[in-house]
Amino acid sequence: MAKNKLHYTVPGLDEGDAQTIIDLLQSRLHAANDLHLTLKHVHWNVVGPHFIAVHQMIDPQVEAVRAMADAIAERIATLGGAPRGTPGALVEERTWNDYSIGRATTQEHLAALDVTYQGVITSYREAIKTVDDLDLVTQDMLISQTDQLELFHWFVRAHLEDQGGNLKTNDASTESGAAQAVSG
Ligand SMILES: [Fe+2]
Repeated sequence: MAKNKLHYTVPGLDEGDAQTIIDLLQSRLHAANDLHLTLKHVHWNVVGPHFIAVHQMIDPQVEAVRAMADAIAERIATLGGAPRGTPGALVEERTWNDYSIGRATTQEHLAALDVTYQGVITSYREAIKTVDDLDLVTQDMLISQTDQLELFHWFVRAHLEDQGGNLKTNDASTESGAAQAVSG
């Protein structure tokens, strides 16, 4: 028996399409699990004069992203698949590196989170396009999660703007590069 053979899926959906959607959702599940753990790590490691504001801003994001992971995993199961939610599967199957900043200032973490959110949101938008022809119910879930993620990204970016509205991260593409751009 093939490892991923579906025993059933939702009515009206082709089983091959269901498997494609399940694979795509598995990648979103890893992204959401990685993000809520990373956000908690930031919650614990920020330091500096704006500690309490940023420390407290992060927790509702952790809760919301945990709820996203739950919804994605349950959608996988609804479609007839088996969600993989263990840390080992996440580390083995993710296509990005672990968050690289430890104890650091609020500005450095927010700059790094700007890069993290850019990656997550870009891949969510790609997933929305992919499911457009396959399953509008899954697409609806991904759209509403992206809406929330983009809102949280704005919360992060609002801390990084100068008075002219420019981001102090200077288009840095790595977490450490972004953190460096705002430090000192
Ligand atoms: Fe806490």
